[in-house]
Amino acid sequence: MSSLRTHDDTWDIATSVGSTAVMVAAARAVETDSPEALISDPYAKLLVANAGTGVWETLLNEALIDKLESVDPEIAAVYHHMRNYQAVRTHFFDAYFAAAVDAGIRQVVILASGLDSRAYRLDWPAGTTVYEIDQPKVLAYKETTLAAHDVTPSVPRRAVAIDLRQDWPTALIGAGFDPAAPTAWLAEGLLMYLPADGQDRLFEQITALSAPGSRIAAETAANHADERRQEMSERFKKVAEQIGLEQTVDVQDLIYHDENRAAVSEWLNGHGWRATAQHSTDEMRRLNRWVNVPMGDDAQAFAEFVTAVRS
Ligand SMILES: C[S@@+](CC[C@H](N)C(=O)[O-])C[C@H]1O[C@@H](n2cnc3c(N)ncnc32)[C@H](O)[C@@H]1O
Repeated sequence: MSSLRTHDDTWDIATSVGSTAVMVAAARAVETDSPEALISDPYAKLLVANAGTGVWETLLNEALIDKLESVDPEIAAVYHHMRNYQAVRTHFFDAYFAAAVDAGIRQVVILASGLDSRAYRLDWPAGTTVYEIDQPKVLAYKETTLAAHDVTPSVPRRAVAIDLRQDWPTALIGAGFDPAAPTAWLAEGLLMYLPADGQDRLFEQITALSAPGSRIAAETAANHADERRQEMSERFKKVAEQIGLEQTVDVQDLIYHDENRAAVSEWLNGHGWRATAQHSTDEMRRLNRWVNVPMGDDAQAFAEFVTAVRS
């Protein structure tokens, strides 16, 4: 269940689920500017600055994080964790795409692409086409903002402006997607915004469109215990008030906390894919980016990065 969602809700970049794209882009902007950055997303800052959702920008501001440290050090740790997590996640899926194109795949589909700028910033081989699917206003915001700053995609990019709960396969094929060619799919920052049955349906649709040799990478929806989630939300609200931050949306209210959600790697392994899962906490430790956070001992509270190849 999610308290703010409906089966056909829509949004733009500044509202509801659209604004979460700004949150993760803000984390990429901070990482890009930090010493020893794991990733480089030179367009993230620009995309965040023009999105009109100041709260995310503010939350990723060093001075504010310092202020947070004095008010509630555990909540400050959560912010450090979030920045590190986004850096590690982006790094992982950048490497996934590099391996996919090394293996000869030239068709890429980024689901719920939000402010993902991979079509603009990654070094794709000639002949690659990148399809991006997201709600119309989200894609329009990214395109117009980047175009206004003369930023152009490095390969052909086809925007498929449609909700992933609608008939997106028809729209994707209409945009030129070839189901007979192997594809590299990505579902990053998406599954938690779909109900459990919507997640199954999405993977069924992807599977039907995936020629042998196709690959998929997905970030799983983490599962926080109800009580813990409630407690953290209350603390966030209190801290926001204390440091004078206007909290426009509580991301937890946008997420479907469905307990019966299928485990992604198991689902894929049962439906014609060979899947492996890397726990994000292990990947964060491997890259020296782990920060101790209140739920740090609860593996289920953190996502897995799943990759799979279609047999
Ligand atoms: C947290 S952001 C992640 C964006 C991007 N994948 C990234 O990692 O930067 C979530 C994105 O999912 C998109 N999204 C969520 N549910 C969707 C749906 N049903 N149809 C289309 N897009 C959806 C939102 O519009 C938003 O851009």
